[in-house]
This record gives sequence, structure tokens and C-alpha cells, in this order.
Amino acid sequence: MSVTVIVGLQWGDEGKGKITDYLAERSEVVVRYQGGNNAGHTVVKNGIWYKLHLIPSGVLYPDKICVIGNGVVIYPRALLEEIEELKEKGVKIDQENLKISDRAHIVFPYHLIEDELEEEGKGVEEIGTTKRGIGPCYKDKSERIGIRMCDLVREDVLREKLKKNIEKKNKVFKNIYGKESVDFDEIFKDYKEYGEKLKPYMMDTSLFLYEMAKKGKKILFEGAQGTLLDLDFGTYPYVTASHPVAGGASIGGGIGPTMIDEVVGVMKAYTTRVGQGPFPTELKDDIGNFLRERGYEYGTTTGRARRCGWLDLVMIKYAVRVSGVTTLALTKLDTLTGLSTIKICTKYKIGEEIVDNFPGSLEDLNHCEPIYEEMEGWNEDIRGARSFDDLPLNAQKYVRRLEELIGIEFGIISVGPSREETIMLRNF
Ligand code: GDP
Ligand code: IMO
Ligand code: MG
Repeated sequence: MSVTVIVGLQWGDEGKGKITDYLAERSEVVVRYQGGNNAGHTVVKNGIWYKLHLIPSGVLYPDKICVIGNGVVIYPRALLEEIEELKEKGVKIDQENLKISDRAHIVFPYHLIEDELEEEGKGVEEIGTTKRGIGPCYKDKSERIGIRMCDLVREDVLREKLKKNIEKKNKVFKNIYGKESVDFDEIFKDYKEYGEKLKPYMMDTSLFLYEMAKKGKKILFEGAQGTLLDLDFGTYPYVTASHPVAGGASIGGGIGPTMIDEVVGVMKAYTTRVGQGPFPTELKDDIGNFLRERGYEYGTTTGRARRCGWLDLVMIKYAVRVSGVTTLALTKLDTLTGLSTIKICTKYKIGEEIVDNFPGSLEDLNHCEPIYEEMEGWNEDIRGARSFDDLPLNAQKYVRRLEELIGIEFGIISVGPSREETIMLRNF
């Protein structure tokens, strides 16, 4: 394992934070490559819960270097607050162990306003975004009016770009939405200060990662969100604005695709989704409520209740394919304890057709009927299991059946939120 990408195979919140923290012990560098503080990654160490939004989940090891890559969009206020909160909990963060790309784009207050207004404007068709300004920031990036970290520390550049952007945004706020203008002076002053505070962390992280890889250092890329939220491969338009798939690590980290040795796909033993959009195996019944309560399925970033449903292998197999997953990590197996029957979706029925490839069209997704295979559940508490043989027979059968259906083996099985609550099935 020299360069490994960790990618979510569902709609986010698969437990990427826990798996990244776990594998970070065996790595030297941990990199976030896309998304922003829409992400919420939970890591539990010695009974203390850490909720990470922009800082990579390797930060709890003082000797690991954390990198925020060029593909990430940074809301400096949130980042500085996160740094302070972590420092208060005794976590080491300084320019030695945190590096931020000089090419990463910056989220401004007007992006948050745009996110809010665009969602309001969509009415019943709202995406259900995290309202963190992520989509509008990426929109400015592709419109080529974005402001990057390297601009933040050049007063004249920042002034000029920000002035132009604010003039443009204010026209839209006033003429289209009839809303108040945002104030240039206040934002300029705040962002100049943010630039001064963040300058020590800034560098060409692509070059840094290249040099680390050349020295044989182990690098872990931590995806945010999940494959089904990817701008190209997700349930468009109910997606985020970046590329969580493994290929995103190449662009968002600035490393050539040939440098990636391994892709770990993280999947929950069932499915969840926050926000709107299709969800073929969603359960709006007691079992859905059981999964939500037992799995504590409430958003790490927004606190919203997550929609819950059975595991969908049509989706998983698709996600495994588009990211070239080499090993799987199964999380939250413990949440299924107590269910007499466990269902696995293996195919969809769309009209008269049976399909096993994830459809692109929203219309197909909205009309597809999942076809299930049923397995017997177990009642034993499995949070103490530390080897595969510690699992009850029915849990073992469930895992083996998943491997058979997906065609890839599990390298890790997680049976609880803490580091120790993990079963390792191979070396990394
Ligand atoms: P991420 O966004 O993919 O990092 O996932 P989140 O942190 O948003 O959500 C996963 C939640 O499940 C967090 O509260 C984790 O602490 C928790 N978690 C992770 N793995 C397990 C597990 O195996 N069992 C249980 N019960 N909880 C887990
Ligand atoms: P982690 O990294 C789950 C969802 C939002 C919404 C859609 C678009 O913790 O897995 P955005 O604010 O990104 O424009 O919202 O994407 N979403 C997530 N859902 N986990 C996340 O991150 C998410 N980040 C965004 O709920 O449906
Ligand atoms: Mg999350």
C-alpha cells in the first residue's frame, strides 16, 4: 500500500472517517481531494468523538501529515474554527502536519447565500444541499471567476477579483431575487485576515505529494461524499458538485492516475441518504426506523435524519466498477443485529425489464423496483468481535454472500464506531 484511495460507495456517510483513521496508522500522509465542509467525518478515539469537515481524518496522529488538496473548496472561517476546536481538544495542528494547496478554491459568504436562494428557487425540486455554498463555489470555479488560496495572500489580486465578483453577485441578488447586497469592505477585510492566518500552511501540494510518493511514503486519499453523489456518476441532479470517485483523487490531489496502487471502497451494511433524490431500496417503515435509531443515522454536518434502506448491490457493483475498487471495507454490520431477516437488493425491475446495471436516467431510477434476496439475521451482539470467526454464523454467511455477489473480498469489517471495533481480514 503506497498510494491508496478511500472512496464511499453509496450516498456518503459510509464511515469513511473511521476507515481513514484506521488505515492512517499505517500511512504517512492523508489527503482530502474534493468537497468542502459539506462533509462530516466522524472519528472516535479513546471514547472522544471528533467530527471533521475539512481536515483529513489522519489528524489524530501527530506524526501524520494532512493535506487539503487543490480539488477541495475551502470556507476559511469553518477551517479556522475547526483547527481551533481540534487544538482545544489537544490535537496537534501546525504548518508541519497540515498543508493546504495554493490552488484550492475559496468559499465566500455570497456562495452560502446563493446556495440558499437557489434551493429556495427550486421549491419541491430542491436538492437538499448542506447549504455550505459548495455548489456555487464549484460553479464559480468552472465559470473561471473563482478565487483561490494563492489569491487570498495577494492583497491587490484579492481586492480586484473580489470586487468584480461582488458586483456581479449583487446584481443577481438584487435583480433576480430582490435581496440585499453583500458588503465588499467587510468581506475583503475578513478574507485578508484569513489569508494571513492560512498562509503558513499553503504550498504546492501536488509537488509535495509527488516528492513524498517518490520517497516511498505511504499516502492515503480520503474521499468525501460518495459515488452516488458524484457529479458524473451520481443520481444527477441530486448530487454534489465534485468528484468523490477514485479518479477524483488524481485531479483533486494532483497525482497521476498511474501512481494509485489501491482503492478501498467503503460501504455500509445497509443504505442511507441525506437530502432529496431517488433511493430505490428506501424503507419508510419500522425497519427503516430501526436502522436509523440503531445506527444513529443523523447527519454529522447538518443533523438531518438520514433516509434508510436495505443494501443495494446494483449500486455497489456500479460504484466498485467506476472507481476500480480493489478491496472493500464493510461498516456498521453491528447495526443489523436483531433483525430476523436481512434483505439484499441484487437487481432492479424497470417496467418489464430486469436490470443489474445502475441506470443513468432519473426517470428509470424513480420507477425501479428492487428485487431482493433474503438472508437470516442474528441476535448476538457483535461489537466485541475482533476476528471473522468471532462473528455469529449468520453474520459470516451474510458477509460471504456479499463478497460472492460483488466479486471482491472484504479487507476490513467494522463493528462499531471506535478504532478497536474493527476486524482486519488482510494486511494493508
Ligand atoms: P463518513 O462521512 O463516511 O465519514 O461517515 P459519518 O462519520 O458521517 O457517519 C458514519 C457514522 O457511523 C459515524 O457516526 C461513525 O462514528 C459511525 N460508525 C462508523 N463505523 C461504524 C460501525 O461499524 N458501527 C457503528 N455502530 N457505527 C459506526
Ligand atoms: P460525507 O463526506 C452525505 C449531500 C447533500 C445533498 C447533496 C448536495 O460526510 O459523506 P451539497 O451541499 O454537497 O451541494 O449537497 O449532497 N451531501 C452529503 N450527504 N454525506 C456527505 O458527506 C454529503 N455531502 C453532501 O445532503 O443531498
Ligand atoms: Mg459524513
